[in-house]
Amino acid sequence: MNVDAGMAIKEIKASEAGIYRALMLRGYSEHPDAFTSTFEERATKPIEWWARRLQDPTSLTLGAFDANDALIGTLRLEQFQRLRERHKINLAAMYVMRDFAGRGIGRKLIDEALISCRKLGGIEMVNLTVTSDNLAALRLYGKVGFQEFGREKRAVKGNAMYLDKLYMWRPVSADYVAPI
Ligand SMILES: CC(C)(COP(=O)(O)OP(=O)(O)OC[C@H]1O[C@@H](n2cnc3c(N)ncnc32)[C@H](O)[C@@H]1OP(=O)(O)O)[C@@H](O)C(=O)NCCC(=O)NCCS
Repeated sequence: MNVDAGMAIKEIKASEAGIYRALMLRGYSEHPDAFTSTFEERATKPIEWWARRLQDPTSLTLGAFDANDALIGTLRLEQFQRLRERHKINLAAMYVMRDFAGRGIGRKLIDEALISCRKLGGIEMVNLTVTSDNLAALRLYGKVGFQEFGREKRAVKGNAMYLDKLYMWRPVSADYVAPI
């Protein structure tokens, strides 16, 4: 791991909707199989849609900013809303720009996301889904303690084939030690 000096993880503000949109559109276009949404679908959304997403009080969007304050990575936490599901939060829309991948930024984003979950209070577990052939993401999630609990077959219908999605979870607690 080699997290870049001067890098900071911060909440992305609604006023930063433009840079968030640009980063995510780049992610959808670089890695079409890693996301359920497509570049085409999201490119048509007006800037207000992105700002609303960042303002949504039931979610938190974190950004990794480099030493020059450029946005280079992100993830979202989206809290389940039904009364009996509010102990759960979903981790989604995770992306680190290709030029900065493999330097520990994804791991740092998840570490900070877990700290944020603990601060929110009442959140006990984090869920996520990942395309079954996304080996980089699967390794990252495994390393930070996520375990698979299910597979949705043919979850996404791509141009050439269906993609399965794996469901993963981990407790929020800092004391949690993942079984080997
Ligand atoms: C998956 C992703 C977020 C990883 O971010 P990252 O900043 O490159 O990850 P890190 O450098 O923090 O790596 C942490 C661990 O993940 C694993 N990993 C990361 N990239 C990997 C790769 N290309 N191949 C295999 N394992 C990889 C490694 O186990 C690594 O730990 P190690 O370096 O100690 O071996 C990034 O590659 C990405 O944005 N991919 C495209 C979008 C995507 O797949 N998003 C997730 C959707 S569910």
